[in-house]
Amino acid sequence: MRIVETVSEMQQLCRGLRAGNAPLGFVPTMGALHEGHLSLVRRAKSECGSVAASIFVNPLQFGPSEDFAKYPRTFDDDCRQLAAEGVTLLFAPSPAEMYPVGAATTITVEGIGDRLDGASRPGHFTGVATVVAKLFHAVQPHRAYFGQKDAAQLAVLRQMVRDLNFDLEVIGCPIVRAADGLALSSRNQYLSASERVEALALQRALQRIQQAIASGERRSEALVQQGLQKLTAIKVDYLATVDAQTLLPVSEVAPGTLVADAAWVGQTRLIDNFLAD
Ligand code: PAJ
Repeated sequence: MRIVETVSEMQQLCRGLRAGNAPLGFVPTMGALHEGHLSLVRRAKSECGSVAASIFVNPLQFGPSEDFAKYPRTFDDDCRQLAAEGVTLLFAPSPAEMYPVGAATTITVEGIGDRLDGASRPGHFTGVATVVAKLFHAVQPHRAYFGQKDAAQLAVLRQMVRDLNFDLEVIGCPIVRAADGLALSSRNQYLSASERVEALALQRALQRIQQAIASGERRSEALVQQGLQKLTAIKVDYLATVDAQTLLPVSEVAPGTLVADAAWVGQTRLIDNFLAD
């Protein structure tokens, strides 16, 4: 696996990878890799001739009081894992390479970018959209792989790809969970042993809603009330039933509706979701 630090070198090497007939797959990450990230790499590997990944802790998507400085950085370990999965190129630029002095352009996905996580983390999705657009320009993949774990991010990026005519396919991949059901996240490392147990409430609330839907309840308000009963011990940011594409609230849950929650467990903000059957 070759590690590349500049946009121009990445563009040049990716051009070579695209020259063959087989598609080039791309998996963008912020590192601190776990099985969730690796599931994207494996999916890309199974569907593409070659796979590029990126590790870049993107300062633009963190708010001023958020965890940019303490975000886990495990670069050497990450490289070993990506190489073992057969990644050909790893793009690992510095902040100065991605955002040189004088850079003045950002991408804001209006409306949808202010919903769910975008509502509680102002500017977050502008940071995500901007960096992902820049990463797409560095790699120019045929297919880009993202986790359903960050369902709002996936919706925002699909909208950006449509609106800006990126010539690539966005592929959403299922959430990978720990044995006890907690969605894997680089931020799970922040949790103490007792917080780790409290964090299970995020999924319990969703499971409760899933059961209620299975037994015939479709009204969002009633479903959300049932889910909230499982979230009394932690500080809820949102528990919402929304259209998976627009992230706008729905009054009745239908197949494909996104049911998502976000909460703070101690100082750590966690998210989870499922798509209704
Ligand atoms: P990061 O949090 O590192 O996640 C990278 C990718 O892994 C995202 O597509 C995310 O949805 C996926 N992922 C994380 N946990 C997962 C899980 N448990 N199961 C399945 N997929 C999972 O998301 C970002 O980085 C950044 O916002 C990024 C897109 C790289 C832009 O900076």
